[in-house]
Amino acid sequence: MSMKENGSPNRNQEDESSFITPKFKKEDSELEKSLRPKYFSDFTGQEKIIDNLKIFINSAKKRGESLDHVILSGPPGLGKTCLAEIIANELGVNFKITSGPAIERAGDLAAILTNLEKYDVLFIDEMHRLNRAIEEVLYPVMEDYKLDIIIGKGPSARSIRIDISPFTIIGATTRIGLIAAPLRDRFGVHLRLDYYSIDSIKKIIQRSARILEMEITDEGAETIARRSRGTPRIANRLLKRVRDYALISDNGNISGKVADEALTKLDIDKLGLDIIDKKILHTIVCKFDGGPVGVGTIAVSIGEEIDTVEDVYEPFLLQLGFIKRTSKGRMATDLAFRHLGVERQLKTGETRDPETRLF
Ligand SMILES: Nc1ncnc2c1ncn2[C@@H]1O[C@H](COP(=O)(O)OP(=O)(O)O)[C@@H](O)[C@H]1O
Ligand SMILES: [Mg+2]
Repeated sequence: MSMKENGSPNRNQEDESSFITPKFKKEDSELEKSLRPKYFSDFTGQEKIIDNLKIFINSAKKRGESLDHVILSGPPGLGKTCLAEIIANELGVNFKITSGPAIERAGDLAAILTNLEKYDVLFIDEMHRLNRAIEEVLYPVMEDYKLDIIIGKGPSARSIRIDISPFTIIGATTRIGLIAAPLRDRFGVHLRLDYYSIDSIKKIIQRSARILEMEITDEGAETIARRSRGTPRIANRLLKRVRDYALISDNGNISGKVADEALTKLDIDKLGLDIIDKKILHTIVCKFDGGPVGVGTIAVSIGEEIDTVEDVYEPFLLQLGFIKRTSKGRMATDLAFRHLGVERQLKTGETRDPETRLF
């Protein structure tokens, strides 16, 4: 069991703002079942990736071969699992799911692989948590569809090689950097999902509202989109929260005003930052005078796991230009100081960036 499942020392803090965590939560499962796009036609945004995938899929179908192995990377909640399932649907094959930590022994992997049909998609989530011994077994599988298994123990042990039908592995990871190079290189297609534009998120919200039969104005969708950190999972979750609020205050109609009030009540600011983001910024800006400060120190200081800070919070703060990663640690930018309304003291010999003349 991982540390996270055991409960972090500051469980309450996580719960306090847990509605914004881009990580998957139990309450999402029902919501996601109805909203999850099944084909490219329901999937909004990530246009470049989709265009490429369409070409690869058509070409595999024309050649009568399995699709190359694909690795999808990017922060949680951007649609990696969703896209993997869409690929299987578009190929018209079975979609089988497992995850890095779930494959503990070579036997687990062998059981999965020998049950695959020709051209199936095997989705391996959290690819960076696959253990090294399993990776070794995967190499010949990915290259030649040959599975080497060891039978017996001690001096009588022998290795046999089994042919498996051609199939496609789609790996997903939030941390591409943690995947060993030899494994990474065996994926023919590398796709990195980025945060969605406000416009795409707005369309996703409008589609979700239609499916869930909610009344939402253009302004309402825009207001939620602006505060969803470019992340579809968060957008859907916020939509649901705002709807709850709208039911009490305005007969369920989600206007811009109602959305704004509801999100403000949930402590989500105009940029989509929540309490944990603010704590991170506050730690770097106020406790460490703008940094540099190590991510471990930040994590301890706010009572979160290092992984959560690195996977979930940091990428968005980097994207906003609020923090920088340096070899000595994380630093807050002038933008972050401004956002918190704190004046930054210049260090000796330093001048201000003209853009931040405000001070
Ligand atoms: N491009 C998209 N268009 C519409 N909905 C999306 C899109 N991407 C993701 N979603 C929604 O967000 C949810 C989370 O996506 P998911 O694939 O589970 O993210 P990840 O695997 O990257 O964490 C999906 O269930 C789906 O409802
Ligand atoms: Mg996923």
